[in-house]
Formats: sequence, C-alpha cells, structure tokens
Amino acid sequence: MAARKAKASAPAGGAPDLSGLSPDEAAGVRRALKAGQGSTLRFWDKLDLAGRQRLAAQLAGIDYDLVKRLIAEHVSGSGAAAAKAPAGKLEPSPVDRLPASEDERRAEERFREAGEDAIRAGRVAALTVAGGQGTRLGYDGPKGCYVFGPVTGRTLFRHHAEKILAVSRRCGRTIPWLVMTSDANFEVTRDYLVRERFFGVDPAAVHIFQQGMLPASDRAGQLILEAADRLAMSPNGHGGTIQALSDAGLLDKLAAQGVDTISYFQVDNPLVRAVDPVFIGRHIAASSEMSIKVLKKCGPLEKVGVAVTRGGRIEVIEYSDLPDELAHARDAKGELLYWAGSIAIHVFSVPFLARLAGEAKRGGGLPYHRAEKAVPCADAEGKTAKPDGKNGIKFECFIFDALPLARKGLVVETRREEEFAPIKNATGEDSAESCRKMLADEWARWIEAAGGEVPRRADGTVDGRIEVSPLYALDAAELAAKLPAGFRMKPGSDVVLA
Ligand code: UD1
Repeated sequence: MAARKAKASAPAGGAPDLSGLSPDEAAGVRRALKAGQGSTLRFWDKLDLAGRQRLAAQLAGIDYDLVKRLIAEHVSGSGAAAAKAPAGKLEPSPVDRLPASEDERRAEERFREAGEDAIRAGRVAALTVAGGQGTRLGYDGPKGCYVFGPVTGRTLFRHHAEKILAVSRRCGRTIPWLVMTSDANFEVTRDYLVRERFFGVDPAAVHIFQQGMLPASDRAGQLILEAADRLAMSPNGHGGTIQALSDAGLLDKLAAQGVDTISYFQVDNPLVRAVDPVFIGRHIAASSEMSIKVLKKCGPLEKVGVAVTRGGRIEVIEYSDLPDELAHARDAKGELLYWAGSIAIHVFSVPFLARLAGEAKRGGGLPYHRAEKAVPCADAEGKTAKPDGKNGIKFECFIFDALPLARKGLVVETRREEEFAPIKNATGEDSAESCRKMLADEWARWIEAAGGEVPRRADGTVDGRIEVSPLYALDAAELAAKLPAGFRMKPGSDVVLA
C-alpha cells in the first residue's frame, strides 16, 4: 500500500511538464513540490492543459508556510500541538446575570438607551456569518436561503435583514450589514440578496465578503485531491471572519465611517436579536473589546461552547473540548457549575478586530483546530468518490478564541426562549421544526401579553400557525402597540402580522 502511494506521488518521468503554464502557475507547482506536496500532482500526466492550469492555479494560492505549520501541529504528531495546548485551571466564567431586581431592570433600560444612542450615532454594524457548509441540515444551498417561515415561507436571510432594518428604522440610522460567505456560496448568496433587493436594507450598506479557504490533509500530511485537477478545500472557520474583514478593506471602511462596534451572529438562529441595544449598551459601558451572550445549558452535554476562565482570562471552550467531569460537575444546589452556554452572539469593538488582524499578519492571531471529516477525494481514476469514513483533517479557526485576547471581555446572560432557536439538523433537536415551535411560542406570548387570544392544544402548543415580521414588531411592547383590539386567532388558522 505504501509502495503504491509513493509511486503515485510523483508524475511519471520525475519533474512535471510545466509547458503552457503561466509563470505564476508554474511557480505554484514548484512551491507545492518544495513543500513536499508532490502527491497533489499524481494525475499530472493524465491532465490536459486546462486541467493542469486549474490545479496549478489552485496550488499557487496555497500558503505553504501555514500548511506546513498546521500539518506539523495537528497531523504529523510532532507534539507541537500538545506543547501549545492552553495550560491553566478551568473555572466557571463570571457572568452578568439576568436582571433580578428593580434596580437591575432600571440599569438595563439605561444600557438600552446607551446602545440606541450608539446606533443613532452610526457607530454600529451587524455581521452575519454564513460561510458554513450546512452539512448537518442536508440543505443544498446557502443556509441563509433556507425557508423556515411557517406561513409565508420567509428565509433566514429575510428574517435577519428585516430585524436589522427594523432597528435602523427605530433609531433613524442605517445599520451596515456585513454578510460573510465562503467560496462555495458567495455567488449564490450575492445573487439571492441582490434579487431580493436586500429585503429593504440600503444596498450601499450591505457588504458581502468571502472568508478564506484551506486545503484538507490526509493522515500522512499530504493534501487531499478532490479530483484529478482539484484540491479538497474548505472554509477556514468563522475565526476567518477577522482576516476576511481586513482583507476586504472593511475594517478600514467601517472605521472611516465611524463604526466602532459590530453585532455578530450566526445565520442559523432566527430567534437572535440581530442588533440588541441592551447588549451593545452593556458592551460599551464595560469598555469591553468582545462581549458574548450565554444561556443556561439545557443539560451537561448540550452541544454549545461554554464560558470559562483559564489563568484569569475569559474564554469559550467548545463542548467537545470540555472535560466530561467538568461538563457534569454541579454545585451544592445541584446546578451545573459550567452552565453558561455560548450561543455565538457577540459584540466586537472594531479597533480590537483591527489589532487581531494585524497580529495575524505577523504570524499571531487565532489558533487553529483540527476536525476529522469524511472528505470526498479522487479515486484511482481521479474521479471524486465519497470515502467510507473519516479520511481527512480540516483546519478551522473559531471566532470565540478571540475572547482571551481581548483586554476586556464581558459575558452576559440571556434567555433561551427569547434568543436561541438554531436550525442545525434536518429533524429533531435544533431543527426547523423545533425552531418553528419556539418562534410560535414567542409570538403567541407577545399576542397574549397584548390582550389577544391564541388557541392552545392540550399540551400547550399553539393550535395554528403564526408568523410575525420583525418589521411589524421586534418585541412584545411593539406588538402591543399595533395589535388590533380584541384580536382572536381561530383554532387551526394561519396568522401573519407583517
Ligand atoms: C457553534 C459553536 C458553538 C456554539 C453554537 C451555537 C463552533 C465551533 N461552535 O457550533 O460553540 O455554542 O454554534 O449555535 O462554531 N461558519 C462560517 N464559516 C465557517 C464555519 C462556520 O461562516 O467556516 C458559520 C456557519 O455558517 C454558521 C456558524 O458559523 O452560521 C456556526 O457554524 P457551525 O459549524 O454550524 O457551528 P456549530 O457546530 O453549530
């Protein structure tokens, strides 16, 4: 097996024929060979010129210094990763808890005013990360185009756009909307948003940008070919947001416009408060560089990152990295000690992101994580084949790894039923169905609080389908101000408030 592989790793006849390639393409091939990645050329002799050009152009775009480092740290087991593993005892993170007293509720109102002032002053932008591949959902397209709306068929992108627009209208100031995509979904996303006229958000304020891509490696440290003329590439994780914002010139552009605060959220959660003045106000009042929202985990093994401290610094540890005994640890009252689940809703200061982007250019920046995946790869004929199991390693940065790098970080508690209903899976937990149920519950609560009537089944679920556009109401108070007096929903009916 090893002998067959070695034979296949070099083009027949030794050095590859580079005739017909541009100087850049030829240099890409040479750099791949110099970096010990000759197996990427194993179909070279079978490729026509166009195929060679495609592969050479891709090879020319690879950062081999980074790839070498990632393979040494995460694949070839030289021990560097273990040496670099963060040290220090984990403790639960301090958290700004939900307001419990009248004083705390009044303080929350002051944070809201501060946040709205910042929005009014044009200091705030919204950022949606939508570069993921959505493999678990099994949806063939950008996740933002996924239809979740129970009645009108609204998509995730529409819902987020309307939330941003609604806050803009409330505050009388355009909020720029940044949408991060990847190579795989940039064009479809852009075409979709253009076709839908950005759902009313000022086109000049929408910036769709692309995150970086990285090649996948096999367990021997060789880059995987997806086909004879193509490397297997995947997005570099949402931690790539920082570099991508910087490379697209957006950090400079935002700073020049006076935007110093970014409200960050994932495309998969329609319940998110896309731009939350209270959270923004808290972030600003605390002079925080990065703030995160957490909620009480629904059990020790819920698949969310957890806010912790290590060596006195706040960080998020991914659920898969949280030691089992800590995940299950409870305090004297029987409550989970590590209860604070991160729901990937953050506020960043723009100068902080610019500082991190600068550090990344000097070789610092966010750490990379490895993920073992089933990576489609070229078979003996060079055709793409699905592997039977996990055959490759992908490298990703996580945005929450920025937290311990902040001079000041802040962790704020929110309520699950008001802010977290992600659509990650096709069925069951965290699916479109569970999300629709949570949305229906929230909208029903708003209607009932406004004096309207919503029919309920014996198990308490809403008997019928409700959909409320963020442009109609962003919260219970706004809905109460608009709902017609004596509003009654008939059992089994559809209600759209838009
Ligand atoms: C993520 C978090 C987890 C958090 C949970 C909350 C990670 C590693 N974990 O888990 O701590 O509790 O969300 O819902 O992120 N994305 C990109 N580019 C990429 C990869 C992802 O833009 O290269 C975007 C996706 O489009 C999506 C989001 O990031 O909007 C989350 O990605 P996903 O891989 O689904 O994260 P989870 O495993 O669900």
